[in-house]
Amino acid sequence: MEFFKILLYTIACILFGIYLVLRKRYSYWAERGILHDKPELIFGNMKELGRTKSAFKIVQDLYMKYKGKANYIGLYSYIQRALIVLDLELVKNVLIKDYEYFSTRGIYYNEKDDPISAHLFNLDYEKWRIMRIKLTPTFTSGKMKFMFPTVVDVATQLLDVMRDAHELDTSKTGSEFANIIARYAVDVIGSVVFGLSCNSLKDPGAEFRAMGEKGFRCRHIWLVHSFINSYPDLARKLGMKFYFDDVSEFFLRIVRETVTYREKTGTQRKDFLNLLIDLKNSDTADPMTMEQITAQTFVFFTAGFETSSCTLSFCLYELALNQMVQNKLREEIMEVLTRYEGKFTYEAMNEMKYMEKVLNETSRKHSIVPCSLRKAVKDYVIPNTNHVIEKGMNVVIPLDAIHHDPEYFPNPEVFDPERFSSTEVKKRHPMAFLPFGDGPRICIGIRFSKMTIMIGLVMILQNYRILPTIKTEVPIQYDIHKYMKSSRNGIYLKTEKIS
Ligand code: HEM
Ligand SMILES: *[C@@H]1O[C@H](CO)[C@@H](O)[C@H](O)[C@H]1NC(C)=O
Repeated sequence: MEFFKILLYTIACILFGIYLVLRKRYSYWAERGILHDKPELIFGNMKELGRTKSAFKIVQDLYMKYKGKANYIGLYSYIQRALIVLDLELVKNVLIKDYEYFSTRGIYYNEKDDPISAHLFNLDYEKWRIMRIKLTPTFTSGKMKFMFPTVVDVATQLLDVMRDAHELDTSKTGSEFANIIARYAVDVIGSVVFGLSCNSLKDPGAEFRAMGEKGFRCRHIWLVHSFINSYPDLARKLGMKFYFDDVSEFFLRIVRETVTYREKTGTQRKDFLNLLIDLKNSDTADPMTMEQITAQTFVFFTAGFETSSCTLSFCLYELALNQMVQNKLREEIMEVLTRYEGKFTYEAMNEMKYMEKVLNETSRKHSIVPCSLRKAVKDYVIPNTNHVIEKGMNVVIPLDAIHHDPEYFPNPEVFDPERFSSTEVKKRHPMAFLPFGDGPRICIGIRFSKMTIMIGLVMILQNYRILPTIKTEVPIQYDIHKYMKSSRNGIYLKTEKIS
C-alpha cells in the first residue's frame, strides 16, 4: 500500500515537473514580445498537422495572418521553437548577407554510426565547406553537357512507357502521370548518379525507388526525433542513427559494388559516380572515402528525385489545363529544334526561354520544397530592433507562402508564365522567388534538375498533346502527410498523338 502511494506521488511529481518545463518553453515568444499563435501542450502550433492541414499550410496560414503586422513571428513546432521570417530584407540577411550566423540547418547526422547521414544537406561548418567545394565542380554546365546524352537515353524509355499508356488507355479517366514521371526521375538519377540502369520505368516495383522513398523517413518516432535534434552531441555519443538500416545497407552495397567493378575493369562513364571516383582517387591530402561517396550519392537521390519528379508532373498538369501555354511551348520546342536541324543538344535546350518561364511558374505555384531551414550558430541581433535570434534557434524561410503572397504575385492561384517576363521580374524583390533557396547553401542541383525536367518535357510535348480528363482534380489536392508538396490522389491526364 505504502509503496503504491509513493509510486503515485513520484509519477505525479514527474508529470508536474514536465508540465512546468513545457509551460516555461511555451512562454518563450510571449516573454520576448514576438507575435505568435497560442501553443497547445505537446503539440505547440502543430495540432492540425496531418489531421486537417499539411506543414506548408500551417506555415502559410500563419504567414497570411501576421504579414503586415510583424517582420517575423514565433512558432512552436511540438516542443521545439522556430522563428518564421516574413520580411524579405530579413530573408536576405539570413540567407545571404549575415550567412555566417546561419550557416547550418541543424539537422542531425552521425558520420560514425550512420555514415549515409553525413551528406551535403546535413553537414555543418568546415565539413560542409570542404564537401561543397569538392562537389561544386561536378555540377558545372560543362558537366551537365557531358551527362546530357545519358539523360536523353532514359527519356527515350519514358516515351516507350507513354506509348504503352497511350495505347492501353481506353478509359475516360486517363493515366496516372505522377507515377510514370516518378519512374522516369528514378531512372535518370539511378543512371547518372549510380551508373545503374535501374529500369523502374519498365518495372514499377523496383527496389531502388522503394529505398529512395524510405530514405526520407526517420527510424524513430517524433519524440525520439525531437530529442535527437535537441541534443545532437549526446545522441551522437549514444550512437543514435537517423536512417533505417536496410536503407543505408542498400546504398552502401550498391555504391561499393559499382565502384569496385569500375576500378577493377577501368570502366569510365559519363556520370556523377565517375566524377566522385576521381575525387576518391585524387592525391590530395584528404581524398573522399567510400562512405563519403555513398552519402553524397544518396543525397543526390533523395534531394533530387521527388523534387524533379513532382515539378515535372505538376508542370504537365498545368499544361493540360492551360492549352494556350502548352501550344506556345510546343511551338518554341519545334522552332528551336528546327534551327538545330532536328538535333536535341544541351545548347538547344538552353535556348528554350519560354520553357524556363513555364518551369519557374510551376515552381512558384507548386513550391515543392515549402521552406528553407537554418539554425543560428551564434546570437544575432535583428537589425533595428532589440530582438535577438539566440544561438541554436531554428529559422524558417517560408518559400511557399512567399510564392503565394498576392503582394508579389497577384491572383496567386492563377498559372501565368508571364510573371517571369523580364519586366515583371525586375519589379519584384529578388527574394520573392526562391524555389531553390539562396546564399551559400542554395540547392547544388539546380542545373541538373532543370536538365532532367526539360529533357522530359521536350520528349513528351514533341510527341503528345496533354489533355485533362474527368478525373483531373481542379484545384489539385496535396498530400497533407508529406512535408514536400505532392499530389494526394494522383495526376490523371490523357495523351493525344501528334502526327
Ligand atoms: C526541382 C528540383 C529541386 C528543388 C525544387 C530543390 C530545392 C532545394 C532547396 C529549397 C534546397 C535548400 C536550399 C536552402 O536551404 O537555401 C535544396 C538543397 C539541396 N539540394 Fe536541391 N532541389 C531540387 C533538385 C535537386 C537535385 C536534382 C539535387 C542533386 C542532384 C539536389 C541536391 C541538393 C543538395 C545536396 C542540397 C543541399 C545543399 C547544401 O546544403 O549545400 N537538389 N534543394
Ligand atoms: C527562373 O528562376 C531561376 C531561379 O530559380 C532564375 O535564375 C531564372 O532567372 C528565372 N528565369 C526567368 C525567366 O525568370
